[in-house]
Amino acid sequence: MRVLVLNGPNLDVLHRRDPKLYGGISLGELESRIYAWAIDLGLQVRCEQTNHEGRAIDLLHEALDWAGGLIINPGAWTHYSYAIRDAVELFAVPVVETHLSNIDAREDFRRFSVLSDIATHRVMGQGPDGYHAALKHLAGEAPA
Ligand code: DQA
Repeated sequence: MRVLVLNGPNLDVLHRRDPKLYGGISLGELESRIYAWAIDLGLQVRCEQTNHEGRAIDLLHEALDWAGGLIINPGAWTHYSYAIRDAVELFAVPVVETHLSNIDAREDFRRFSVLSDIATHRVMGQGPDGYHAALKHLAGEAPA
């Protein structure tokens, strides 16, 4: 299965963000781990990150033609972007909404997710390992 892993705004500076919330690693290190996990699981992954909502939507549209699964961490767009929701809603394949931190246990504004009712599966609060859980879900190696 081919999988798009899409990280949204401010995840390019992951290493500068609160390590207690975000794991203290760089995006490059996270993506290296994702590629290694994907090989173990027999998945073909393409990792992308953008700070630009229109670019994210273009990447999602392109992935409609090739991806068998989507892992998306929309960053702060999670909490307000109906444009990202509309693009994600186009996917007929499994979509895993993934967050490094536990958005349900932080500020009130983070508790609402525009994707919560359309994602096939949600992973949060597991730090970088959450992407492993998301990949395992797509590979059918994790409980639903
Ligand atoms: C995040 C949580 C969001 O609330 C925040 O805006 C992010 C990252 C996470 O991975 O925990 O940028 O999606």
